[in-house]
Amino acid sequence: MSDRAEDLIVKLLRNLGSKKEVDQYLKLFAEVDGRRFAVIKVSGGVVRDELDALASSIAFLDRVGLTPVVLHGAGPQLTAALEEAGVSRTNDEGERRVTDRGIEIARKVYQRENLRIVDALESLDVDARPVPTGVFEADLIDRRKVGFVGHVTKVHLDLIDSSVRGEQIPVIASLGETSTGQTVAVNADEAARELAKALQPFKVVFLSPHDGLRDEHGEIRSAVNLAEDYDELMAAPWLTSGMKKKLEEAKAMLEVLPRSSSVAVASPENLARELFTHKGAGTLIRLGERIRCFETLEGIDVERLRGLLEDGFGKRLFLDYFEKKQFFRIYLADSYRATAILTLEEGVPYLDKFAVTKDAQGDGIGASLWQRLAAENDKLFWRARVDNEVNPWYFARSTGSYRSERWIVFWYGLTAFDEIERCVRSALEMPASLKAKPEASS
Ligand code: ARG
Repeated sequence: MSDRAEDLIVKLLRNLGSKKEVDQYLKLFAEVDGRRFAVIKVSGGVVRDELDALASSIAFLDRVGLTPVVLHGAGPQLTAALEEAGVSRTNDEGERRVTDRGIEIARKVYQRENLRIVDALESLDVDARPVPTGVFEADLIDRRKVGFVGHVTKVHLDLIDSSVRGEQIPVIASLGETSTGQTVAVNADEAARELAKALQPFKVVFLSPHDGLRDEHGEIRSAVNLAEDYDELMAAPWLTSGMKKKLEEAKAMLEVLPRSSSVAVASPENLARELFTHKGAGTLIRLGERIRCFETLEGIDVERLRGLLEDGFGKRLFLDYFEKKQFFRIYLADSYRATAILTLEEGVPYLDKFAVTKDAQGDGIGASLWQRLAAENDKLFWRARVDNEVNPWYFARSTGSYRSERWIVFWYGLTAFDEIERCVRSALEMPASLKAKPEASS
């Protein structure tokens, strides 16, 4: 197995973006104090079906000097073991009930799965520590009705701390004990949430066979801005109930974490790319912020908006920009870290500026802004310099483009030839409104 797993690590490395980006994220993750880097939540299904890939994605983090905290379930394995032993799993009312025999089996199954992960890691030369018990203290809910099922009341961090300090990756099973040491089953989502609350990690990773959240066309949705998207996604008929549950769980976690924290949904294969590139490869979930749409400058702090544009483009905006333009719609994130400014040209919405501040890149706010923009404007055209780094992203979001020596004009939603022609001409003739920074030009 370790040959295959080693190959996977090499593949993960090769998959990454530019060295500059990787270094930037390495630095960022290394700066947060040891145990706060990341909690990786692994479902029992991944442990059962994808142990090699799981181990190599964690080994990858270990190789670059990071020590995540791993929390795993073993739901499907437990179900199978109980079935095999003929132990019932529910009470008369159909609720989950864990009998004496059931908890005995659960303990064995979790311990076995815990060791499988640790062994797989050790076979890749990763120093890992099994933590099958001793983290989650729980109270029995109702011994008579549901048996050995508990609520987490306390999270003990001693074992985790000691292992992270020694740069050993702690591998924790989601099982609890009462204060007197009786093992109890706890809900895996609850355990993950309580652990996150206690550790306050910078990243929470949901490692699942699904490499992200998929939209109605089956494409991976790059970012979810909960403040904007939560209600809509929870009501969407095309979103699977499993994914809805993940969203709910992500929201509950982010609500008890610092605003800089985020949740990533990724598969073992795309985890490295998710963590070490701006674009990511899975789905990045943040509490996020609202994006507002204005029709005039009223209610906008114009100087702040100017600052955002200049930061995003690394250029100076002409002084009279805001006086001269006739705006159609201005989309603006509450934090003034992302904006899309639209005018109407030839009767068609023209994206005059799309900017994300440097520090918000990789934050998902740009992707979220684009989703909003595309949902509310059936047609759009815009231009970018031929050497703009964002062009691949624009190509992916347009249905057509025209290239001149200096500009690429992009559009979507335009089909009539004469309309396209008028729009392209008008985009090419648009006067400049940004100039190089004086330092840069001198
Ligand atoms: N690597 C960065 C992070 O982990 C950005 C990830 C962006 N991911 C995405 N799916 N849009 O925070």
